[in-house]
Amino acid sequence: MIDITKIRSEFPILSREVYGKPLVYLDNAATTQKPRCVVEKIQEMYYSLNANVHRGVHFLSQEATEAHENARKTVQQFINAASPNEIVFTRGTTESINLVASSFCRQFCREGDEILISSMEHHSNIVPWQMQEDILGVKLQVAPINVNGELLLDEFEKKITERTRLVAVTHISNVLGTINPVEEIVRIAHKHNVPVLIDAAQSVQHAVVDVQQMDCDFLVFSSHKIYGPTGVGVLYGKEKWLNVIPPYQGGGEMISSVSFEKTTYNGLPFKFEAGTPDFVGSSALATALDYVSAIGIENIANYEHELLQYATEKLEAIDGIRFIGTAKNKSSVISFLIKDIHPYDLGTLLDKMGIAVRTGHHCAEPLMQEFRIPGTVRASIAFYNTKEEIDLLVTALQRIVKMF
Ligand code: ALA
Repeated sequence: MIDITKIRSEFPILSREVYGKPLVYLDNAATTQKPRCVVEKIQEMYYSLNANVHRGVHFLSQEATEAHENARKTVQQFINAASPNEIVFTRGTTESINLVASSFCRQFCREGDEILISSMEHHSNIVPWQMQEDILGVKLQVAPINVNGELLLDEFEKKITERTRLVAVTHISNVLGTINPVEEIVRIAHKHNVPVLIDAAQSVQHAVVDVQQMDCDFLVFSSHKIYGPTGVGVLYGKEKWLNVIPPYQGGGEMISSVSFEKTTYNGLPFKFEAGTPDFVGSSALATALDYVSAIGIENIANYEHELLQYATEKLEAIDGIRFIGTAKNKSSVISFLIKDIHPYDLGTLLDKMGIAVRTGHHCAEPLMQEFRIPGTVRASIAFYNTKEEIDLLVTALQRIVKMF
């Protein structure tokens, strides 16, 4: 069960006003707000525990190292990875995908090899592969979706060829809210001996993510979308892959020994963590994950699903509304357009009424082209949102429609 009053009191920002109106924050797919415990953790780290990790024999350095490595174990448990060696801290989802694109392709791809994605990917799961097109001559293949925004699994399988080296797909679409059948995707890809990267940026905060059950080869997510701080993220990779792909960046910490003649690399996961890691961020991410775990991800998912259904029903009553993304299996993201009102105008007017939504292409321009639209208005719901906030959104949209 969700104790909404208690939860909202733990997020100070939710009680602020904008333009003299109570803030209604419905832009959670862009970033989530932070509970007090996460902000306090950051403060505690800087006030009491600040020292470089893995580098000092002194007390503070040992404590900071312990905090960073304990954070790794918390992440490992949260996504049920087999070992902490499979957890690499990065700057976020984008850097995690860039790391895999760069290191995996360098090791395993030659000119003409293919990377298969879906047409609902975020730019961060498109552009890093396109960069490998330029560098190595790999080819990007795109699996299509239907009008509801669901991946066509048969078509997806047909796109796998003997040149396919990796499948990289999102678990949940940031625009459509579609929950992709990732276990089925992995099963199909593995049948063809193709490894799979799952972009979990929009799913870890809404659904149980169990990498062993999914059997994915890589999985990536960002701290800031799961109530943790910005600037830190996670790359999960099966040890068998992380062991054989080369480092992404060179520098301190990722080495075992350096001479001008020859450098050897550190073991996992440090081989991929060049430079001073964001040990404050990793520790605060762990606090966020503990916070979410204490509430229970299933409780969060159930409550958000209830809000999604409530919002969808209420919004349906608005004259001229059109939903973009009507998959059967959907997460709490609602993209829509109303008549021919430009999404930017809708977003700007909602903002003046205190309601924060995202408008535009949501870093998924190819998806917009597929739907032949300039963009959408996107309301994305978190477990601290309420039915009353949904009502405020609906009333505000009704007023806007009248104005036009
Ligand atoms: N990827 C984030 C979003 O969908 C920024 O808004």
